[in-house]
Amino acid sequence: MKILRTIDEVRRWRGSLAQGTTVAFVPTMGFFHQGHLALMEKGRKLCDRLVVSIFVNPIQFGPTEDLDRYPRDEERDCELAEQVGVDMLFLPRADAMYGENFQTSISVDRLSTGFCGACRPGHFSGVATVVAKLFNIISPTTAVFGSKDFQQLAVVRQMVRDLDFPVAVIGHDIVREDDGLAMSSRNVYLDEQARKDALFLYQSICRARQMAAGTKEMPCALITRDIAERAARHPRVELEYAAIVHAGTLLPQETVDSRSVLLLACRVGPVRLIDNGFLREAHDQTSM
Ligand code: PAJ
Repeated sequence: MKILRTIDEVRRWRGSLAQGTTVAFVPTMGFFHQGHLALMEKGRKLCDRLVVSIFVNPIQFGPTEDLDRYPRDEERDCELAEQVGVDMLFLPRADAMYGENFQTSISVDRLSTGFCGACRPGHFSGVATVVAKLFNIISPTTAVFGSKDFQQLAVVRQMVRDLDFPVAVIGHDIVREDDGLAMSSRNVYLDEQARKDALFLYQSICRARQMAAGTKEMPCALITRDIAERAARHPRVELEYAAIVHAGTLLPQETVDSRSVLLLACRVGPVRLIDNGFLREAHDQTSM
């Protein structure tokens, strides 16, 4: 596995590949868990070469967010990437990505305004900008993103469509712990009590699926109200939003159908967690 740190080195590596070589790319912020590794395995199967980046992107963090304490373990990540069969690991430094005079940003307007975009102003513009830069540096033919960050996946797909990036964006289902908690690098922030309380998210998705299964024309408001009431009664869970939207447009829906996704964000103690799930069972989450 090659470990490269500068943009020039990456361009040279990419240029040395035979014409027509397919390259899968998995952008990450590191501190790998099984979710990251599953995306890499998918990428490796899809293409001739597999590239992974680790970059804790400062411009997608708000001023009061966890940029400085975001968990990092470069050595362990390198070992895991090698085991999965990554061909090239890109570890850029922040000053190489954002020079002093950096002043360009990409914003995907409507898709970025609600949900996590409302709670984290500027976040999706930071994500879209760094993903566009990484696509330009690496020139992948395919990029793999997790549906854990459902709105992020929608934003990236829209940017690729709008700006004509020649990249096939592939989604991957959420990888969960045995008890249902969606894997996340931020789960290390959870203490024993918060780890238990965090199950509120997955339990809400399962409960919503049960409610939806019982009725043909299930009003979305009944489900989201049920979640809000349960959160209000919970002493340590603070609901940021619970919304049922159309998977492709992220527009709110009146009644549950086969494209309905429940999007959830809450604070469990000091930790902000997100999760989501299609409400009709056995849905392929990767297609939007
Ligand atoms: P990060 O949080 O490190 O996630 C990297 C990729 O792993 C994203 O596509 C994310 O959706 C996916 N992922 C995380 N947890 C997952 C899980 N439990 N199951 C499946 N996939 C999961 O997302 C980012 O980094 C950044 O915003 C980035 C896209 C790298 C831009 O900076």
